[in-house]
Amino acid sequence: MEEWQKEEPLVIVKGKGSYLYDSKGKKYLDGVSSLWVNVHGHRKKEIDQAIKKQINKIAHSTLLGLANEPSTLLARELIKIAPKGLKKVFYSDSGSTAVEIALKMAFQYWQQINSKSEARNSKQTQNPKLKTKFITLINAYHGDTIGAVSVGGIDLFHQIYKPLLFDAIKVKPDAQEIEKAFKKHHLEVAAIIMEPLIQAAAGMLLEPKGLLKKVRQLCNKYNILMIVDEVATGFGRTGKMFACQHEGVTPDLMCIAKGITGGYLPVAATLTTQKIYAGFMATYKEQKTFFHGHTYTGNPLGCAAALANLEIFKKEKVLQRLQEKIRYLAKGLQGYRRLKKVKEVRQIGMMVGIELIDYPWEEKMGVKVCSNCKKYGVLLRPLGNVIVLMPPLSISKNEIDLLLKAVYKSIKELL
Ligand SMILES: Cc1ncc(COP(=O)(O)O)c(C=O)c1O
Repeated sequence: MEEWQKEEPLVIVKGKGSYLYDSKGKKYLDGVSSLWVNVHGHRKKEIDQAIKKQINKIAHSTLLGLANEPSTLLARELIKIAPKGLKKVFYSDSGSTAVEIALKMAFQYWQQINSKSEARNSKQTQNPKLKTKFITLINAYHGDTIGAVSVGGIDLFHQIYKPLLFDAIKVKPDAQEIEKAFKKHHLEVAAIIMEPLIQAAAGMLLEPKGLLKKVRQLCNKYNILMIVDEVATGFGRTGKMFACQHEGVTPDLMCIAKGITGGYLPVAATLTTQKIYAGFMATYKEQKTFFHGHTYTGNPLGCAAALANLEIFKKEKVLQRLQEKIRYLAKGLQGYRRLKKVKEVRQIGMMVGIELIDYPWEEKMGVKVCSNCKKYGVLLRPLGNVIVLMPPLSISKNEIDLLLKAVYKSIKELL
């Protein structure tokens, strides 16, 4: 804060397409989609109109004990585009809450199911009530609330809160290591949680190809639920609507947020299967209620924006048109690999990490490079020594050029 206070803050007052404008009228390319949320650009006409139309009806009514129109319609649309087998939608309002819900749901599911039928299903004799633990991956990031931090694996962010957290079993993102942990702990493990294909906040670290699919198989074998956190990867970022779809995986629980409203409003959802849902199906007296409800859950304005967002994906064939941009971006990144101060360039879809060589963290080299990009009209936010590029899916080829040139020049100038 001491350093931040000395700087003059950059105040964004408006946006249009891929650009943000500050209070002095300077224009910047939004190179990280306003923290990985914007999808079709700012001020997208159809989303603006959907929100205005909805506000003429109602801005908010609770989902606790009531339904509302946009959230109901959105749930139906989400199920249509989600990996096959996900049938139920539980709303909340951020990536972190979507994760909290998945963890609590997985935990409670095992507490409430009938051990005999479950044992029959899984060909194992076990007491599901003992399944109370979680496995997570080293370097994982699932959000900033206490449950999400408990399954987080980035010491810089999470270490200080250790006394507040529940214990999670931390494993390398490696199929053999995961199987070893499953073998040892499966009787006490409720679920594994993982980001699919790429650990984003860890610095855009790519997971081994096929890992997701392998984990799905292992979860089936060892009777462990699979929670996939698509908060960063969902809504086209990896080139498919959801990263799970690259490996044909249906998790038991899937967390989505960020891009769900096109980057307009805070809506999130935890999707799950009929099987998990059935674990909560009971009369009032049996007390199997899932006690979790955020005040703004299923907010009609947010859900109206999300419906418009999904409609644009269809109408503009966003995913089809994106493939060429992904290849164009990949081609443009080639030159970076030759830079001496660049250690590695990682890309999946529109998610890119340009990792600089190992500068000591005190040097804030990532911050400096990104800060320098401002003079070329590009706004970025690094993760340590990793320069992150995650532009809106609607970015044009010319804008990709601008983005790549700004970062390239900044690295060359500074390093
Ligand atoms: C994979 C993943 N999960 C969860 C979150 C937390 O989302 P939110 O900031 O909306 O709480 C993030 C945020 O970056 C994320 O990348």
